[in-house]
Amino acid sequence: MAKKGLPENFLWGGAVSAHQLEGGWDKGGKGISIADVMTAGRHGVPRKITDGVQEGYYYPNHEAIDFYSRYKEDIKLFAEMGFKCFRTSIAWTRIFPNGDEDRPNEEGLKFYDDLFDELLKYNIEPVITLSHFEMPYHLVKHYGGFRNRKLIDFFVKYAETVMKRYKDKVKYWMTFNEINNQADADNDFCVFTNSGILFKEGENREETMFQAAVHELIASAKVVKLGHEINPDFQIGCMLAFVPLYPYSCDPDDVMKSVEAMRKRWFFGDVHVRGEIPAYAKAYWENKGYRIEYTPEDEAILKEGTVDYIGFSYYTSAVVAGKNEDGSPAEEGYGRLVPNPHLKANDWGWQIDPVGIRYALNVLYERYQKPLFIVENGLGARDKVEEDGSIQDDYRIAYLREHIKEMKKAVELDGVDLIGYTPWGCIDLVSAGTGEMEKRYGFIYVDKDNEGKGTLERRKKKSFYWYKRVIETNGEEL
Ligand code: BG6
Repeated sequence: MAKKGLPENFLWGGAVSAHQLEGGWDKGGKGISIADVMTAGRHGVPRKITDGVQEGYYYPNHEAIDFYSRYKEDIKLFAEMGFKCFRTSIAWTRIFPNGDEDRPNEEGLKFYDDLFDELLKYNIEPVITLSHFEMPYHLVKHYGGFRNRKLIDFFVKYAETVMKRYKDKVKYWMTFNEINNQADADNDFCVFTNSGILFKEGENREETMFQAAVHELIASAKVVKLGHEINPDFQIGCMLAFVPLYPYSCDPDDVMKSVEAMRKRWFFGDVHVRGEIPAYAKAYWENKGYRIEYTPEDEAILKEGTVDYIGFSYYTSAVVAGKNEDGSPAEEGYGRLVPNPHLKANDWGWQIDPVGIRYALNVLYERYQKPLFIVENGLGARDKVEEDGSIQDDYRIAYLREHIKEMKKAVELDGVDLIGYTPWGCIDLVSAGTGEMEKRYGFIYVDKDNEGKGTLERRKKKSFYWYKRVIETNGEEL
């Protein structure tokens, strides 16, 4: 007989990040973060990274949806939906505005005290990411981001400060959001948001990225170890962007290419969970002539600071081919990415693949045997406010319903240990990838457009009532 239903204490909730909803970018002593220097783009037009905050640009994260002053109103709505948990991040720059100060900013610490108290008032468990694309910009300008080893200590100090301060309020932590995005070292946005790196002329991008990633993985392991000393009940996870890379066909070249391409994702999870640099990475670095520096002490720390659970985002899958159309071998790395003919895509080209979430849960669990936590999933879509003020987002409900069905199969039929599900952007917020407001994920609509105009008024969408019922029935009524 198949196991029936999700665990009773399943963590249903929603996910956001500080820079995408808080606003208040210069309030309460906050410093400039890397999100504060990114302009708005759109599908196919990348966000521009400016040299500091400059006149004449629109920076969508500066105000975002003003959660900074409206969080009580918003948390009340989350409570009304029945959230058991709420995933957000701490803006590093509220605590250490520049990142290298000796003492933290009390006003920033107080803000999160109040925020967590407000969640706990409704029995909503905070799930906290320490670094979600929002490190201090000062650390980029003056230290070169995570390419610099000094960043390990700055991050550990920040993490220690908040873990000590909130040790009785927060149990679930994650270190670096989607740490593996940067594996695509040709993508400026990914490496900047993950590691605060602006490449120099002539620099080997991939080598620099791997060095930065190793620094982050060491920093993460140190924080996991320290966190367990601060409070042994802490559950400290990693956070991976999980985009399965399917082989295009049963052609062995396609299959092998997908194995190689997946290593770019596995690398991060493998170090976080197994506590050592995998053999395939060492071989790759050697073959490429990369000199990635880490000490025997670092290796020991990696072993001591392995994560308790794996948090991951899942939105879409992708397909790799091992050969080009003319039959020649595809490029190294991700090979040739091709559209999946079996799937449809959203307006931003993200292909919709509900079975992929079951696949992701299975391959992650088979590889690591650690509890899993889906900390992001959802559909970015344009919503329309009807004349009567309602928002009929049936497409969002359909997306989530199909994904939850597959998630349940992973638990009931495949025996995966899954602790929770927090759909992304439970309230509309600024898109990370494009800086748009109109790429909406929320159950709660926020009146604001891509140019920053709007009243910021909140409105419940049809999906709000649907998700409330899903939580009430622990996923039985979809
Ligand atoms: C993940 C990030 O990449 O996906 C979020 O952790 C992000 O910060 C989300 O917002 C959705 O991506 P986008 O580009 O649609 O905002």
